[in-house]
Amino acid sequence: MSSDKVLIFDTTLRDGEQAAGSRLGVREKLEIARQLARLGVNIIEAGFPVSSPKDFEAVQLLCAEIQGPIICALSRAVEADIDACGKALAKAAKSRIHTGLGVSDIHIAGKFGDDKYGKTLEAKKDKVIEMAVAAVKRAGEYTDDVEFYTEDSGRAEPAYLFRVLEAVVDAGATVLNIPDTTGYAIPEEFGRLIKSITEKVPNIEKATISAHCHDDLGMAVANSLAAVLNGARQVECTINGVGERAGNAAMEEIVMAIKTRNDFFNIDTDIESKHFYRTSRMVAEMLGFEVAANKAIVGTNAFAHSSGIHVDGFLKKRETYEIMKPEDVGSPKSKVVLTARTGRHGVRHRLQEMGYTLSTQELEHVYQRFLEIADKKREVFDEDLIAIITDEVRAIEQVYELEYMHVVCETGKPPAASVKVMAKGQQKQASACGDGPVDAVYEAIRQATGLSPKIEKYTIRAVTEGKDAMGEATVRIKSNARSFIGRGVSTDIIEASAKAYVDAINRMVAAE
Ligand code: KIV
Ligand code: ZN
Repeated sequence: MSSDKVLIFDTTLRDGEQAAGSRLGVREKLEIARQLARLGVNIIEAGFPVSSPKDFEAVQLLCAEIQGPIICALSRAVEADIDACGKALAKAAKSRIHTGLGVSDIHIAGKFGDDKYGKTLEAKKDKVIEMAVAAVKRAGEYTDDVEFYTEDSGRAEPAYLFRVLEAVVDAGATVLNIPDTTGYAIPEEFGRLIKSITEKVPNIEKATISAHCHDDLGMAVANSLAAVLNGARQVECTINGVGERAGNAAMEEIVMAIKTRNDFFNIDTDIESKHFYRTSRMVAEMLGFEVAANKAIVGTNAFAHSSGIHVDGFLKKRETYEIMKPEDVGSPKSKVVLTARTGRHGVRHRLQEMGYTLSTQELEHVYQRFLEIADKKREVFDEDLIAIITDEVRAIEQVYELEYMHVVCETGKPPAASVKVMAKGQQKQASACGDGPVDAVYEAIRQATGLSPKIEKYTIRAVTEGKDAMGEATVRIKSNARSFIGRGVSTDIIEASAKAYVDAINRMVAAE
């Protein structure tokens, strides 16, 4: 295939907005359209003017405000719809009317069942061609740029589809939209359909073929790319793949596939891909659909590495595990997500990025603590690492170490705690009750260590976010007129409190 260009037709504001549960205001459409223009899309389908006064207003506003892309409006093959498009688009520098109707037997029998369209399916099919031609001619009274959609092409009888296409091109349509409306097609098959259109529609050289694929079987992007490989030179898509039911083909996936695998597609688009991440977040926010973390190209995990083998390979050479650069799609830079599967290399790298250079022994301590926490949490954040470091690396001799604790809180009974503390190489055990679970643990620690420093102050705070946040306890104790501060960190706030108390006791003992 020779190197040339595929036009990007964005329908986020029309088909995308048809997603169940979403509605965009006129101002929101304008803001998204400005971002789409920055992104470099060739055509913006702004709305369906006859469907509501707001859609009409949005199309009008975009025509007045947006420079660059062609502004397109949708209609059925009905005069009133086409006239509404013509009026709404009147002020556009470049306008397009997108009209059409259903061409599969299922659509024709279902939508044109009334006898006024013909008594037999064959008669109805002739009538549909008549209506299609009339619609294109009517649209041509408003603009030279008329796109025709043959709805449900994916399930239409090919020979009939070719007849419709030939007729609408003769009537003046310059773009032929071949929608797989129900997301039924398979890439190879859809590619073949596009190819057969290039071979069987006699006047096809007068029109551009466009692919409009839905994602009901998860193949919208693959079908669109198959169409490009077989001669389509426009693809219709939405940001984040939003749209009716399972959505439309995702623009960022189509464009980045074409760009990343240019060796295979040998074709270009006008898209400035560095705007994808920002556009994705804007659309997600305005439509109220979160972007899945594992969403290709724009998901928060799209450039995140977590397992030891991947992290190690990625840190040695980025290309080992990345086929695109995050900056190419405007995504925050690649990150190593610290989890229980991340090895020492990943933890050391992250600590270095945060400005901590630890000795091998210190790193080992931190890594062991990291593993304990990572086993309890899905992800270990920077704040967790800082908390571990402050807890672990400010080394003093650990005369006492909390080995084990068990706390029972029962309604109607005072909380009870048992602890095992290593004291100068010997294990001491104790159990106690208290006013609360922390008080019970503290009393048990006092009994196990044989020390009873006075507690001056105790605070607990979450140092990270979420249900599995790290809690940091700080406790100030007093002995012989001197105060000592101990800190403890854990996902369990009682354990953090116990560690803080033992830490303070160790500082007190070290100072004696
Ligand atoms: O999916 C479809 O068939 C459509 C047409 C209206 C173009 O969105
Ligand atoms: Zn559609």
